[in-house]
Amino acid sequence: MCGIIGIIGKKNACKIALNVLKNLEYRGYDSAGLAYAQNKKLHTLKAIGKLKELYSKYEIIENEVKNVTLAIGHTRWATHGKVVIENTHPILSENIAVVHNGIIENHDNIRSQLKNKNVVFETSTDTEVIPHLLSVSIKNKNNFFNACISVINKIEGAYAFAAIESSKNEIFVARKTSPLVLGLGDGFNIVGSDAQSISHLVSEVIYLNDGDYAVLTESEIQIFASDNNKVEREKINIKSNINFLNKDGFRHFMEKEIHEQPNVLINTIGSLIKEEKDLNIFPEKMNIKNNYGITLCAAGTSHYAAMIGKYWIERFSSIPVNVELSSEYRYRSPAASMYSSMIVISQSGESIDTLMAMREAKRLNLTTTVITNVENSSIDREADYSIYTHVGPEVGVASTKSFTSQLIILLSLAMKLAFNNNKISIKKYLDFIKSLKLIPSFLSKILSLNENFMNLAQAIKNSHNILYLGRGILYPIALEGALKLKELSYIHSEGFAAGEMKHGPIALIEDGLPIIMFLASDGMEEKSISNLQEAIARGGKVFVISDEKNFGKISFIENKVLIPSFQGNWNDIFSPIFMSIPAQLIAYHVARERGTDVDQPRNLAKSVTVE
Ligand code: G6P
Repeated sequence: MCGIIGIIGKKNACKIALNVLKNLEYRGYDSAGLAYAQNKKLHTLKAIGKLKELYSKYEIIENEVKNVTLAIGHTRWATHGKVVIENTHPILSENIAVVHNGIIENHDNIRSQLKNKNVVFETSTDTEVIPHLLSVSIKNKNNFFNACISVINKIEGAYAFAAIESSKNEIFVARKTSPLVLGLGDGFNIVGSDAQSISHLVSEVIYLNDGDYAVLTESEIQIFASDNNKVEREKINIKSNINFLNKDGFRHFMEKEIHEQPNVLINTIGSLIKEEKDLNIFPEKMNIKNNYGITLCAAGTSHYAAMIGKYWIERFSSIPVNVELSSEYRYRSPAASMYSSMIVISQSGESIDTLMAMREAKRLNLTTTVITNVENSSIDREADYSIYTHVGPEVGVASTKSFTSQLIILLSLAMKLAFNNNKISIKKYLDFIKSLKLIPSFLSKILSLNENFMNLAQAIKNSHNILYLGRGILYPIALEGALKLKELSYIHSEGFAAGEMKHGPIALIEDGLPIIMFLASDGMEEKSISNLQEAIARGGKVFVISDEKNFGKISFIENKVLIPSFQGNWNDIFSPIFMSIPAQLIAYHVARERGTDVDQPRNLAKSVTVE
């Protein structure tokens, strides 16, 4: 992960870099730093902790650096080396400064070679080999540009980096797997880890292709492909999303993003519906074939969306679906001959595990599709086909509106496949399309139960362990509820399939252990209720979030929140979308009560670009 920025040719470069770092803080927030050139001398400013610490240090020197026009900056998610000032980027060697995102996998080897040449290392980072290699190369009479190319030829791994040399008015950048976007300004140029972070400064950007490197001066950008040939890359107009860092009166971005779901999911649904008669989903472009299976692959919350997608696609279309964790798929030598299509799901479009899994699928001749929220993200650019969730920037590290939008797309795909395969009638298909449009307003009804989830949060906030249960299509929601809770509140929580309780997790139950169950009214509720009885008999403190239709069956349960039933026949099928809201609100309120950092939980990052 980590966010990087470089700017050349504009006064107040340090302040501009800081503001861009603010937009990149979702990529890591362990520490942050700047390096800038002033009178051909290199200076750095670094701080441990959130970016506000660096802002405070900057205020002290603000007047002195107003005329600075060349700066690079970094916000860190630590991989190699503890969170201390020495390991905070930019990392220096003599008059060279480097900011880096990713991992240099052969840094140990290079470090030993450099030590043999009496190079002294001052950090525990993998990054430090880059500036030292540059210094050594320049001492060997290479110019800065050639030195940078020699470094690219030596380092292995996934990376994006920017380097400056104090006497040169240029920034060298290179990317391999990790993202990097160049922005073309009026009299200046800029580079950042994503387009959104620089969208308030430029209206045209260039996405570097994998393996590209480039040199930025204030008036020019030269790009080279990995074969060292100079290339032109497409210039893309971008819209400024200047307001994406606005909480709209909510206390946290996560709270805002939970509550804006009814509004933003209208965009997702709008993009899917074609004249009320059909869905804008094209299984043929995804190479989905009846006698082959589909692999769904993702990480974290997106992986739980994939699990729910499997339930839907298999149930309605009978096409077999294999669900994979991105981090496992790439290295486990998957047998792919039974599959024609891989669909990866990634909010950010940048998770390296998912990108690598997708590349592996391509190598195995699968057609690849991505469901993503970020157009032009690395995965989007490499996938054969893309479906966008259109929910706008998601700032809170824990995914909320992206998850529900992914579910809506997966369910729509399931229904389209079912219709194409004559598994459902045209009447049912049209009814689905009509019902889809009712989801946003229905979610508002669930959100109006907010106070009930606040009360539930009060009751569990001091627990050390919490179990989540769900059956069938709500089993992945139990997993997602537990993930959200542990991410945000740091309470140990686990999700289980209700029917699996008796096979192990029941041993965990002791007096007062909170057990939260998501209960649909899908014909299986009696079995789930029996599982609850077993838990109660052993002292578990049960909380049920249930479809109101189950009211009579769960009257014996004291702590329950009843979710209104959706009109028509789609209630159970839509239930994972509906139950996502309680899962999100419970985690949010517990975290808020405990005073943890809701939007930037410890040790996490929104976009995970290291393996
Ligand atoms: C990180 C985030 C999670 C997210 C996961 C997958 O771990 O903290 O919220 O679910 O990455 O991200 P993606 O962008 O690929 O959906």
